[in-house]
Amino acid sequence: MTDPVVRDVAPSTEAFLEAVCAGLTADPKTLPCKFLYDETGARLFEAICTLDEYYPTRTELSILMQHAAEMAAELGPHVRLVEPGSGSLQKVRFLLDHLTDPVDFVPIDISLEQLTEEARQVAVDFPGIDVHPVCADYTAGFSLPEVPDQAARTVVFFPGSTIGNLEPGEAREFLERMAQVVGPRGAILLGVDLKKDLDVLHAAYDDAAGVTAAFNKNLLARINRELDADFDLASFEHSARYEAAPSRMVLELVSTREQRVSIAGTAFRFAAGEPIRTEYSHKPSHADVVAMAAATGLAVRRCWTDARAWFGVFLLERAA
Ligand code: AVI
Repeated sequence: MTDPVVRDVAPSTEAFLEAVCAGLTADPKTLPCKFLYDETGARLFEAICTLDEYYPTRTELSILMQHAAEMAAELGPHVRLVEPGSGSLQKVRFLLDHLTDPVDFVPIDISLEQLTEEARQVAVDFPGIDVHPVCADYTAGFSLPEVPDQAARTVVFFPGSTIGNLEPGEAREFLERMAQVVGPRGAILLGVDLKKDLDVLHAAYDDAAGVTAAFNKNLLARINRELDADFDLASFEHSARYEAAPSRMVLELVSTREQRVSIAGTAFRFAAGEPIRTEYSHKPSHADVVAMAAATGLAVRRCWTDARAWFGVFLLERAA
């Protein structure tokens, strides 16, 4: 077997600098959450996924473990499977295990090292499936390798509730783009973390061991490393709070004092107590997901959930 060839269209340092400067001159200050995932960030996120408090990963895994055969049956044979933001490629294995003669698998991720390694491993473990990795920022649009003739339909698999990290307008646009990617006969399998008790949410996003805080602060460390900046990490605190409408967790880094930070020669001022918003994590109800799908011309055909209905894996297809 030859290693899968990775198409590398990851964003440049210039694009990172431009996004950081735009975010820190905005009011209130923000930083795009997609930049949380450099090599250290990806490692810290993997650690978050194993925390007792962080229920989404194990809840979604348990749903996939229990229902992957049924999901695969709904998707049908000869599927081309596309996974934007594929990360560790752990979850897709449940589907690949059960799909009937899938024709190819296209993982898309921004982290070149992880994508190369994980795609290689999937190609080894599933020798009957062609693996075509694409290194790209899927939120900025991407082009896919040609659809193989044998593909009966394209299916986008988007687990992990990553859609929850997009703002409502972005989430709708993302779904619209995915609906175009899969075409009229295609389908989207979407993992969504649902609305629940606030204590559970607060513990999940501000864990006792401080792994989420380290993940959040790594964004400032990354800016220091890659953009010649001088953030004093000890002068920013991790914060995770709930907003009711729309239902979401808001992750911030709060400046503990008045300070000035230089990034590639440009100065940015922070007041004491001023937050930088680094991430939203939306927690919609089942009805919110149905409404979001409907707004993009899609319908929820099935939803698999856990006993507490904390997490849902939704099968979306074009509405009739
Ligand atoms: C990737 N995403 C779905 C995670 C979430 O739960 O919103 C990112 C994360 N941020 C802090 N903890 C986990």
